[in-house]
Formats: sequence, structure tokens, C-alpha cells
Amino acid sequence: MHVLVTGGAGYIGSHTVLLLLEEGHTVSVLDNFSNSSPESIRRVEKISGQSVATYKLDLLDRERLIDLFGQLRPDAVIHFAGLKAVGESVAEPLRYYRNNVAGTLNLLDGMMSTNCKKLVFSSSATVYGDSNKLPLSETTERSATNPYGRTKLHIEEMLEELGISDPDWSIANLRYFNPVGAHESGLIGEDPQGIPNNLMPYVAQVAIGKREQVNVFGADYATSDGTGVRDYIHVLDLAAGHLAALEYLSIQRGVNAWNLGTGHGTSVLEVIEAFSRVSGQEVAYQVVERRPGDVAECYANPEKAMLDLGWKAERGLEQMVEDMWRWQVKNPDGFLN
Ligand code: NAD
Ligand code: UFG
Repeated sequence: MHVLVTGGAGYIGSHTVLLLLEEGHTVSVLDNFSNSSPESIRRVEKISGQSVATYKLDLLDRERLIDLFGQLRPDAVIHFAGLKAVGESVAEPLRYYRNNVAGTLNLLDGMMSTNCKKLVFSSSATVYGDSNKLPLSETTERSATNPYGRTKLHIEEMLEELGISDPDWSIANLRYFNPVGAHESGLIGEDPQGIPNNLMPYVAQVAIGKREQVNVFGADYATSDGTGVRDYIHVLDLAAGHLAALEYLSIQRGVNAWNLGTGHGTSVLEVIEAFSRVSGQEVAYQVVERRPGDVAECYANPEKAMLDLGWKAERGLEQMVEDMWRWQVKNPDGFLN
């Protein structure tokens, strides 16, 4: 299949592009590099021994996007491109709606211009808002607690309405839990700009000595050790979920949502402990105030993906941390090396 991957130079996108190539798909990448570097694609080419047609393009440039569809005529699209920082979305909501929602509208126009009607969309467990009905299943009521989350919710709803209007569409809304880890080569991984918002990359930077200590956002939650619990999933398991979804879309029409998580919760202190064990480095931490908007626990019921797609996460916390640590040690400054 010829797959156009938007945001293919980013963290999850680059790992998925690699797997697509390994499975024999033809891949084109579209990215504006607002949060990534072309170096990630060069690394994917190095690992796979294949070249990837890469187009520097912003989804907001509707005319060039439609031209590109006419030129490439892909069979399917995997849509990762989007802004993803929750705090930033509160400070700049319109930028988030424009980039994520309007960008997706342009993408759909491009797809329709060549009758391409297979789409895998990067949604998020954030669409479950602050639900405390655990584990979260696809039927759990959706809500948003910030503009980033609302962009994901709006896009899911838009895609559902599109599917109702035209039953020829095959659409997968994949709700990711907490992606972590890196490819085992240590050549590609997450390369956050500035101070990492997320726990794992922050812990990795403390372990390597770039930052002094981890701020643990609250130790008074009603969880096993008082710290926040999340469903961390290895990025390669997540990437494999996209291939499984693509296969499903090649034979089934309609709009579906699937959770991509492991079903297991891990606390902040368990993450810090695992990192310090795997890296052999002390990971200093201090408990600080809760981060506004955080929920105590969030983990998936991943059964639907197993039933429909035959997919489940295979890698455990140890491997997530080992792979993340290898990437961090080999690339202390990310793709700037
Ligand atoms: P990322 O920032 O590494 O990748 C996103 C890519 O999209 C980047 O390469 C960026 O340059 C590109 N991009 C952004 N806006 C664009 C535009 N207008 N035109 C073209 N390219 C554009 O992020 P990621 O972690 O790989 O996440 C991929 C997707 O998964 C995002 O949609 C994100 O919201 C979603 N998601 C991520 C997480 C997570 O924790 N990483 C969790 C749930 C959902
Ligand atoms: N945490 C800390 N210290 C830090 C960073 C995080 O203690 O420096 C804690 C948080 O309080 C939380 C856990 O570590 O308990 C995980 O936090 P992350 O920021 O890594 O992940 P979140 O679950 O808060 O958010 C992630 C994505 C969001 C997405 C959400 C649900 O960043 O975009 O998962 O999918 F919306």
C-alpha cells in the first residue's frame, strides 16, 4: 500500500514509518518540521536501508496539500501531524484549533480530491477527560479538560460525521495512552524541545545529568504509593497498532475507535525506580504540588484492539526504560548530534 504519513518525522511517526517500510509498504512523509528534524527520517532510512520521499509542507497550506495529493495519490493516510503540549494549548488555544482542527480539515479535502478514504488518526486517551471509570474502554463517555484535548475530541467527532455522510470511508481513531521508549537501535527516539513536559523524557534527562531532579507532581493521590498512575506503552508496540489498524481498514469500512494501551498502570515512583535500576544512575526527586489538571490514574482496557485488530502490546516497563536509556545515552542532544 502507498501510505502518506503526516507528521512522519515526529516521535511516533518516525517509528511507524520504519515499521511500514519493514512491512513492504511504500511511504511518503509530509511534515513541516515544527517539532521535529529531517534527521529522524535520515535515521529511519539508515535503519531500513530504504529511502523515504519526504515533503516539507504545512497542513495549513491547503493548495499545496491538494497538489501533493494529486501528485502522490496515496491509498491511505496515517495522520500524526499536530501540536500536543497541553499547557501550551491553554496559553494559545487558537493556534491549537487552527493547526490541529483546520489542518485536519485541509487534509480531508486533500484526501477527497483523489478519492482516498482510508485514514488512521492519532487520537489520545485525553478524550476520556477526567473520567474515573477505570479501566477506560472505548465506550467511556468522552470530554475535554483543555484545548488540546478538545481538538482531539472535535476531530474524532468530525470523522464520525464524515463516516455517516459517506459510508465509503474507513477511519480508525487510535486513542494512545502514554507512549515511551525508542527503537532498539538507539538511532531514533523522542527528542523534546526545551524542558520536557512528560515524565519519562524528564527522568531520562535527570539520569544523564542534564537536569538536577525530578519534580514528582503530588504524592497524595489515592493510588498505591500516592503518585500518579499511567499506562505507559512502548512506541514500537504503538507503531505496530497502526499497521494492524491499516490492515483492518483495507477490508472494513466505517469509523472505529481503539484504545492503544497495555492495560497496566505504573506510578511515577515506579518509573523513577526502574530508570535508576536500568541506568545505574541515581535519579534524585522531590515531591512538589500536584500539577493542575492531572488525574490520579489512567489506564486502558485494550481488549477491543485485541478482538478487532489482533493487536496487543508486547513490551514491558523494563524494555521501555532500557530502550529509552540507550537512545538518551547515544543522543544526549537528540537529533542535534
Ligand atoms: P511529535 O511532535 O513528535 O510529532 C508530530 C509531528 O507533526 C512533528 O514532526 C511536527 O513537526 C509535525 N506537525 C505539526 N503540525 C504540523 C502541520 N501543521 N503540518 C505539518 N506537520 C506538522 O508528536 P508525537 O508524540 O509523535 O505525536 C504524534 C501524534 O500523536 C500527535 O497528533 C499527538 O497529539 C498524538 N498523541 C501523542 C501522545 C504522546 O504522548 N506523544 C499521546 C497521545 C496522542
Ligand atoms: N509527572 C511528574 N513529574 C513530571 C512530569 C510528569 O510527576 O515532571 C507525573 C504526572 O503528574 C503524571 C505522570 O507523571 O502522573 C505522567 O505525566 P506525563 O506528563 O508524562 O503524561 P500525562 O498522562 O499527563 O499526559 C500524556 C500526554 C498528553 C495526553 C495524556 C493522555 O502528554 O498529551 O497523556 O493521553 F493527553
